[in-house]
Amino acid sequence: MQEVDIYYVKGKYPVFTTFLNHSSEEIKSIKENIIKYRKENPKSNESNVKAWHSDYLTHDLTRCFDDINRRIMCECDNILNKFNNTNDRLLLHNMWVNIYEKGDRTVLHNHFPRCDYSCCYYVDIEENSSPIKFPPRLEIFPKNDMIVLFGANVYHEVPPTNGKRTLIAMNLDYPKRPSNSPTYFEYSQ
Ligand SMILES: [Fe+2]
Repeated sequence: MQEVDIYYVKGKYPVFTTFLNHSSEEIKSIKENIIKYRKENPKSNESNVKAWHSDYLTHDLTRCFDDINRRIMCECDNILNKFNNTNDRLLLHNMWVNIYEKGDRTVLHNHFPRCDYSCCYYVDIEENSSPIKFPPRLEIFPKNDMIVLFGANVYHEVPPTNGKRTLIAMNLDYPKRPSNSPTYFEYSQ
């Protein structure tokens, strides 16, 4: 398993990063699928993400991301089971693809109580792209093939970007919310 880095927001809420070790050809093919999906679905979903992004149920609407979705979820299972000393499997609650152009951004928000965990898989990140910021201090500058995984209660934002950012985002759930699942009530912004 690829090494996992763990950062803590407010000294308590873990944010995990790792890489899937896809080849550049595999990453290129995922990027092409996202671009094709955007061409076929040009109207953006509307949310805190102020950039083109697809429906939250994209995993139900097309089969073209099945392989990469499975890879991302398997890695998130590995990370969380190791960290929590559990043997659970996450369910895919939401999945959407995003293309940030110059000036696009995401306003500060979290994903609770929609799900237990959220993650991003960064497919193509140009130079001078904005980081994902977790106030008050953590900011992660994504790289191609990187996963960033965090509890759904953790606030995050993306300042206006210069470089283009192409990524997959997910909300992940446990079938039965375990006691070590993040909760909203212990997190204040
Ligand atoms: Fe988000």
